[in-house]
Amino acid sequence: MAGTFIDPAPSPLALLLLGREADSSSERGVECPGDLPPASDPDLIERAKRAKETLGERVFILGHHYQRDEVIQFADVTGDSFKLAQKAAAKPQAEFIVFCGVHFMAESADILTGENQQVILPDLAAGCSMADMAEITQVEQCWADLTEAGVAGVTIPITYMNSTAAIKAFTGRNGGSICTSSNAQRSLEWAFQQGEKVLFLPDQHLGRNTAVRDLGLSLEDCVVYNPNRPLGGLTKEQIQNAKVILWKGHCSVHGRFTPDCVDSVREKVPGITVIVHPECTYEVVEKADQVGSTEKIIAAIESAPPGSAWAIGTELNLVKRLALAHPDKEIVYLDKTVCFCSTMNRIDLPHLVWSLEQLATGNVVNQIKVDPETSHWARVALDRMLALPGLSATVD
Ligand code: 13P
Ligand code: SF4
Repeated sequence: MAGTFIDPAPSPLALLLLGREADSSSERGVECPGDLPPASDPDLIERAKRAKETLGERVFILGHHYQRDEVIQFADVTGDSFKLAQKAAAKPQAEFIVFCGVHFMAESADILTGENQQVILPDLAAGCSMADMAEITQVEQCWADLTEAGVAGVTIPITYMNSTAAIKAFTGRNGGSICTSSNAQRSLEWAFQQGEKVLFLPDQHLGRNTAVRDLGLSLEDCVVYNPNRPLGGLTKEQIQNAKVILWKGHCSVHGRFTPDCVDSVREKVPGITVIVHPECTYEVVEKADQVGSTEKIIAAIESAPPGSAWAIGTELNLVKRLALAHPDKEIVYLDKTVCFCSTMNRIDLPHLVWSLEQLATGNVVNQIKVDPETSHWARVALDRMLALPGLSATVD
């Protein structure tokens, strides 16, 4: 099954869209400044091993579940956003944290690690289109709109990990917390103990799925704030009556799955269990049998009985790896067409080799550094999440 997957090279247009220019307002970052080894170099694996050995305990490599196999093989720990944030915070002896993931994850690692530690993103163009959908000036305008509607004082911001450090800092300053897909329910419950309403940023789907399916709110309790429209495209009354104000953002990878995908896989494989990530739309999640973060999806497959059939709605690198690791189970990708997260895929072996070799020769490249003021308030919001009761039980 896994052998049928295709590994597409990004087109020149995709590379252009991913950002070749410095762009301080974007999660996309800038072009890699160094001389990369060619992808065809047959020694890349040996070179990565050698550089990692040379660095020894000085380096700690984190790998998100959506990373390529060629990169994940060098990760000291793999995980979802929440687990990796915890692991980065728990490794004070490592001088370099090499984050094989995307820009917002590396920022969070920088915020959670000590002053003596440096966080490296092997390709600075590894951003996140969802995080790009909420800019700090837009979020501040939204807060001004909520103030104008007389509800900012009773609204708690809950911000998904997939956001810029500036928006995490906004969240900390305004009494809110960060959440990830593994703890969104607990974060929302916490928020409703602190206030009457929630502003959920930037993924409307995770916010809606959690509010309606886990907290029992109705779809009518949720409104969508569109940052490109005056007052978010809402009336003051709509804002005042809403319990959850969802930011109009989404993940372009998980947004590909449709209710039709679920129907058609069920038709093809009767009895198949459909499991999807909560970044999928409400309609898809409603049709699926199970929903969960990447860690939860992995746990479900690992504990499934041999012979069981699963359709998985999340990023393709993870699904491919699960299919390879569980040949005794039938594992299919929920969408009919190939869909990697193109920005996660920016981190490839040449970039990893290049950054490790540079570090080994004493040249710190691609460091992600959040300014102290932003870092302080973002940490307040991250610490609120990490302090939520019972969360340590959700990883490992
Ligand atoms: P998790 O790692 O929290 O499951 O999130 C998935 C994702 O889209 C990360 O960018
Ligand atoms: Fe962003 Fe979606 Fe890619 Fe995650 S999978 S990094 S949310 S675009």
